[in-house]
Amino acid sequence: MRVVLGVAGGIAAYKAASLLRLLREAGHAVRVVPTSSALRFVGAPTWEALSGEPVTADLFDDVENVAHVEVARTADLVVVAPATADLLARAASGRADDLLTATLLTATCPVLMAPAMHTQMWQHPATVANVATLRARGVHVLDPDDGRLTGTDSGPGRLPEPAAIVAAALALVAPGDLAGRRVVISAGGTQEPVDPVRFLGNRSTGRQGVALALAARDRGASVVLVAANVTVPVPDGIEVREVGTASQLREAMTIAAADADVVVMAAAVADFRPADPAGTKIKKTPSQAPPVIELVENPDVLAGLAAHRARPGQVVVGFAAETGDEHGSVLDHGRAKALRKGADLLVVNRVDDGRGFGTPDNEVTVLDAAGQVVAEATGSKDSVAHTVWDAVVALLRRS
Ligand code: CTP
Repeated sequence: MRVVLGVAGGIAAYKAASLLRLLREAGHAVRVVPTSSALRFVGAPTWEALSGEPVTADLFDDVENVAHVEVARTADLVVVAPATADLLARAASGRADDLLTATLLTATCPVLMAPAMHTQMWQHPATVANVATLRARGVHVLDPDDGRLTGTDSGPGRLPEPAAIVAAALALVAPGDLAGRRVVISAGGTQEPVDPVRFLGNRSTGRQGVALALAARDRGASVVLVAANVTVPVPDGIEVREVGTASQLREAMTIAAADADVVVMAAAVADFRPADPAGTKIKKTPSQAPPVIELVENPDVLAGLAAHRARPGQVVVGFAAETGDEHGSVLDHGRAKALRKGADLLVVNRVDDGRGFGTPDNEVTVLDAAGQVVAEATGSKDSVAHTVWDAVVALLRRS
């Protein structure tokens, strides 16, 4: 496939080099079309060396071949990353004052834009209106990530991860391998009330579950996310059902699983809950010993869903956050859990040494129901999510 990679003039222009590499590694020919300000961040020789194709920003180079018409006519996909506030404005108003904007006006293939800018620029009514105009015209404009920006500030405006941009872009041209599939994913961590102000909880933010939801959406699935106290933003196009406790999560998952092709339990579910949560705030009484909180066991949602499949051929996926200990390695514990839970796939997630919780990266091994390794992945939670879906798709094809 021929991809035009438009690069606008923002500091995130350097990240487009990773994007270019990912596209090339996936076997696509890439023509980079920077704006002249993008060339002040990353020069033409870099783009030429990485793409193996000539690079120009100007309409007046290569005039004899009418470059903007030629570049657009031969493209199967246009990706603009980063799309700055200025580029979005020029594209929305139909300007054609450089090769990139002229190409955007002549392209008939799918166009994806990945914005990156400061939060104030992204949230400015002018940018909001420009994005709405572009989306109404069928341009796919991604929401930027929320995170660290150029300076010390942070907020929405970060360029999404290159792997996520590639996945979203490729999903526009190829019907996703989850097209027509319904998936339900639990994410986050349950909170079990002790009294009206306190709860037993865990450190899960929901980031991996949200990454799974996003990857499934980009691969064409319709996605329900059962969100237990998720603290990261959930992208558009995902139906969210909020829950708090393990029993609420079980109920929501059971309802959503009834017509799902795939069920993924990425949430950290509390194994125990206070037997009798206090109706009023527990006070300390100086003359009395601290209260003893009696716990009862919560149902194992994953084992229940795996044992009572709502539909034949439904694929059930579990996660196992493990640390190695004197009884065995991370993988030993994972294998035992795979056999115990009855899921088709168990994604074993290393959580020792601060790995796993609230971090962008993850390190996982995917086991089948018999505990055999079917895949391994280390990297961003987005790329881990795609590894998990690759394994799911392989199972769906077999059933
Ligand atoms: N899980 C669940 N219901 C529970 C506990 C866990 O559905 N009450 C699911 C999790 O969503 C995850 C998988 O089971 O997909 C493994 O969770 P984990 O906490 O690693 O396993 P536990 O069964 O709780 O085992 P242990 O804590 O003893 O390691």
